[in-house]
Amino acid sequence: MEFKAIVDAKARSAAGCAVVGVYENGDLGTAARHLDAQIDGLITRLHAAGDFAAKVGDTMLLPRPAGAAAARVLLAGLGPRAAFGRKQYRKALQSSAQALAKTGTGDAIVYLALEEVPTMDLQYRARAAAEVFSAQIYKIPDLKTGAKPKPVRLGAVSVAAENARAAKAVAAGLKIGAAVGGGSALARDLANLPPNICTPTYIGHRAEGLDKEWPTIKTKVLDEAAIKALKMGAFLAVTQGSAQPPRLIVCEYRGGKKDAAPICLIGKGITFDSGGISLKDPPAMDEMKFDMSGAATVLGALRAAAELELPINVVAIVASCENMPGGKAVKPADIVTSMSGQTVEILNTDAEGRLILCDAITYSRRFKPAAVVDVATLTGACVVALGMHFSGLMSNDESLAAEISGAGIRADDRVWRMPIGEEYAEQLKSNFADFANVGGREGGACTAATFLSKFAKDLHWAHLDIAGTAWLGGSQKGSTGRPVPLLVDFLIQRSARGGRRAQ
Ligand code: BES
Ligand code: MN
Ligand code: ZN
Repeated sequence: MEFKAIVDAKARSAAGCAVVGVYENGDLGTAARHLDAQIDGLITRLHAAGDFAAKVGDTMLLPRPAGAAAARVLLAGLGPRAAFGRKQYRKALQSSAQALAKTGTGDAIVYLALEEVPTMDLQYRARAAAEVFSAQIYKIPDLKTGAKPKPVRLGAVSVAAENARAAKAVAAGLKIGAAVGGGSALARDLANLPPNICTPTYIGHRAEGLDKEWPTIKTKVLDEAAIKALKMGAFLAVTQGSAQPPRLIVCEYRGGKKDAAPICLIGKGITFDSGGISLKDPPAMDEMKFDMSGAATVLGALRAAAELELPINVVAIVASCENMPGGKAVKPADIVTSMSGQTVEILNTDAEGRLILCDAITYSRRFKPAAVVDVATLTGACVVALGMHFSGLMSNDESLAAEISGAGIRADDRVWRMPIGEEYAEQLKSNFADFANVGGREGGACTAATFLSKFAKDLHWAHLDIAGTAWLGGSQKGSTGRPVPLLVDFLIQRSARGGRRAQ
């Protein structure tokens, strides 16, 4: 889908469809007011007749209204003006995109960004428009036989701005939104694919595809022998029960100065988590194909960085394998030596994410990173704590945590800070090794992150537990692409400061 900024606050441009916002109680948005005059007060009359309530998410298509420059007009309900905020704005965009997809129009002009949204400036309003429209046309890679649904006709979306200066902000926002859309689509594709297709080897191939597609990206895929040579004993313990070979995927985007310290984004890439010998219960075990969502989203964010040509260096490190039971599988009570040299007693083979991540964190040290952010569907406990709305954020660095929280707010991809520390480390004590890999039921998301902090040590490190946010279950089952929007925002802000941390 192509996005463009245009100057036109008065709904005078010709297009297949004009999308204008209408508040409740006949309170017309900026463009709707001008348009209403052109079409002989039709919108006002529709409201007076009780035909368009303009609740948030309501839409109404007006085909060929006499006097309008556009072939169709789509009214988008915004709810009461006093209650109009980020949520309402996004909802209106979403229902507009849905309604447009049902029409025959090939292009549209969206006038919704003309409305003021508290705490959301024009660039972010435009960004949200591109994000929402991109997400709307996303199609799950399905393996259904039979007739495919018709491809979406809507190919071009213009977003209207008041004047040339405003159009610049809109264009900048659209560019970011489109890149977030592209990164999210990549992440969602990888996560939605079945685990017999999306194996560690497959993720490696897709990462090599990024290398081919973007001259600024260099990919290196390490196989089991190379992982052994690195002495990643914790990672190897997880993969040893599986017939699928593991991969350590290193994708470097170099957009910054040659010697500038990179941001390392580490992704958990368990392509199927059966639990291993500590086997999971059958209900919803299929959803453990999404256990590579961290990996998918760091690759998506890297792709977006390349598309935006951000002046920053980023290294995506993906540790990918399956977690399976079998004669060779790691057993509860096994003790392994991690790449850091620290030993771990594996008491529960289902706490595998922290085992692959601890070695990936140690590996990241060779890049002398400015910051390390790991992204992982790490704990069911995080889902219990935060539900599906917020990702968990843990960090050993106040300023990095604030940067990430801020990025989550701006990108509408929110996180909630959770604690780590010595209190939780107590729960990870082992009589036989430096740490146990589980610390009991209490504070499960916090003990998992505290485990990782023992490997991050002096690094500027943050951890995102996306177990609740990475995918939806039930009839909506599928990947959300989160936290690609947050990660891209974080990288943009870092780029704006020349890759340096916030003060
Ligand atoms: N991938 C799971 C976490 C998970 C569970 C994410 C459910 C989303 C939904 C992870 O590997 C895991 O199994 N964690 C265990 C840890 C426990 C054994 C300490 C969990 O959360 O039950
Ligand atoms: Mn597990
Ligand atoms: Zn897992």
